[in-house]
Amino acid sequence: MNRASLEKRPEEVAAMFDDVAPKYDIVNDILSMGQTRRWRRIVVDAVGAAAGQRVLDLAAGTGTSSEPYADAGIHVVACDFSVGMLKVGKRRRPDIDFIAGDATNLPFADNSFDATTISFGLRNVIDPKKALREMLRVTKPGGKLVVAEFSHPTFAPFRTVYTEYLMRALPAVARKTASNPDAYVYLAESIRVWPNQDELSAWLTETGWSSVAYRNLSGGIVAVHRAVKPAAPALD
Ligand SMILES: C[S@@+](CC[C@H](N)C(=O)[O-])C[C@H]1O[C@@H](n2cnc3c(N)ncnc32)[C@H](O)[C@@H]1O
Repeated sequence: MNRASLEKRPEEVAAMFDDVAPKYDIVNDILSMGQTRRWRRIVVDAVGAAAGQRVLDLAAGTGTSSEPYADAGIHVVACDFSVGMLKVGKRRRPDIDFIAGDATNLPFADNSFDATTISFGLRNVIDPKKALREMLRVTKPGGKLVVAEFSHPTFAPFRTVYTEYLMRALPAVARKTASNPDAYVYLAESIRVWPNQDELSAWLTETGWSSVAYRNLSGGIVAVHRAVKPAAPALD
């Protein structure tokens, strides 16, 4: 495994997810040892949207991260640039609005969502800061952003064991269960080089978000970052 596996163009990332789409959710559950359901509940609570509000779930993939909003009567828009992932999602949940779009050039008007969220997707975007600026543009002033992403365990001995699991076991399990094991090698490597909790907080501030805070889940395997779009300045 080497850094070359991370040097992908956006079309290659989309094609990779097209490939894994049919087995994406099941492999995800196995690799995360069943933790994803709990993580997802915490993300939905952090978004805290009310029925009737509009939420953008970006890099929504097959829509697993979008479903709880739809189930709660929230108008969720599931956006992703992998048509393969969107097709699997639409087949399973025809009631959800699946829209093809690139996180770095969103097909939505300014200030059009009450909240924006992205689960396990920002790390895969080739220019994540550009995506954070786009999310700011489409979110209403005062609206929330919630980012769930793999992060860095805070307890050093655990971090060592976990990194070993990521780099060795994850690709090995994926080889047995997934149609495209290279995609999981890429995923493991992309988690290893992703910024830590404080660095990601700094990115959020740098791209214009305010009130940035985060919560570690499962010892920091995942971090949930929250932020708010500053209210529009009052006109005199
Ligand atoms: C690991 S999946 C996460 C899917 C879903 N949010 C979940 O929690 O299961 C990452 C998704 O990010 C999408 N993605 C990566 N780069 C993107 C971009 N620039 N624009 C839109 N989607 C992107 C991929 O196509 C993929 O479906």
